[in-house]
Amino acid sequence: QRLRAIDLSNFSITKTTTPKQLTANEKLIFGRFFTDHMLSLEWTAADGWLDPKITPYQNLSLDPATCVFHYAFEAFEGMKAYKDKTGQVRLFRPDMNMKRLNKSVARIALPTFEGEKVIELIKNFCRLEERFIPSQRGYSLYIRPNMIGTQKTLGVGPPGSALLYVIASPVGPYYPTGFKAISLEATTYAVRAWPGGVGASKLGANYAPCIVPQMQAATRGFQQNLWLFEDVDERTGEKEDFVTEVGTMNLFTAIVNKDGQKELMTAPLDGTILEGVVRDSILQLARERLVPEGWKVSEKKFHMREVADAAREGRLLEVFGSGTAAVVSPVRSISYKGELVNCGLREDQQVGPVTLRMKDWIEGIQYGEEDHPWSWKV
Ligand code: COI
Repeated sequence: QRLRAIDLSNFSITKTTTPKQLTANEKLIFGRFFTDHMLSLEWTAADGWLDPKITPYQNLSLDPATCVFHYAFEAFEGMKAYKDKTGQVRLFRPDMNMKRLNKSVARIALPTFEGEKVIELIKNFCRLEERFIPSQRGYSLYIRPNMIGTQKTLGVGPPGSALLYVIASPVGPYYPTGFKAISLEATTYAVRAWPGGVGASKLGANYAPCIVPQMQAATRGFQQNLWLFEDVDERTGEKEDFVTEVGTMNLFTAIVNKDGQKELMTAPLDGTILEGVVRDSILQLARERLVPEGWKVSEKKFHMREVADAAREGRLLEVFGSGTAAVVSPVRSISYKGELVNCGLREDQQVGPVTLRMKDWIEGIQYGEEDHPWSWKV
């Protein structure tokens, strides 16, 4: 018997009879308020994908033995819908999110799906929830696709059933403090990911263990922690702390390198780095728009001592995080083994010029001010 593919012709919509009140933009807290509806697709190993449906936003009812609660069969995505000046709703590179979700779920024995079809469903969902999409720049509708294993079993094996669902939350700037440079504490007692591990997959199980190091950094006054990975520097044979990610974001560093050339660097996709959509966008824009200005753009391993040396020698220009939630997040300083590395901002400055240009370029595309194939009209 053939397994069913997602069938868009049997898509059902049940609208809520109790529409929610909108929350004022300035009262939005990241991921706290949700729209009226949710999109769900069930899958069973026997039948494949059952008919997609939009229903009122509601609780899930799952047996306490459901495998997601025990063995973390869960992968998710983060994407956003924007409203442009004309009221047109837009998604930013949704194909990238679908590709990544398929990669993530495949890694934990959950079913893959046709991404184009789920994008069609998400577009329908966005149209239905249009009133929740803020039009103010910096605000958007955060969309959270999530897939869980739903089989009721304590047996450790591939889930015989799964649920792909999508919820959405109107959001403003990610950090409650607004667009301000953050300070980081480099974590030296724990690692986020390792070679051969699952750091490149967007699994919930990668996020829970990150909270304690973040809380500990916070007790010392740092907004986020910086994730390092100790490895041998092939150039010197010395062990070094390689820079990987920041909190839940990818990390970019702009320096003047030893050849005197401006260089924008980020860690390579070696399996330990989340394959960020904004990361990829920044790299493409930098290659297109900064390289002609004389910049070098590198995906390469670099370590904390290089960053600290660059800072000491006045060659560290900017450091910033990148992610869907925050777009870019400028970094003021990094505490590393008792040293406070200053990341190039003046005391009265919240963002450096490259970080700001990246933010403007990407937001310009997201909000439809620049016509670009990355922005998909809904
Ligand atoms: C992002 O920066 O987009 C993230 O992945 C954060 C999210 C887990 C809230």
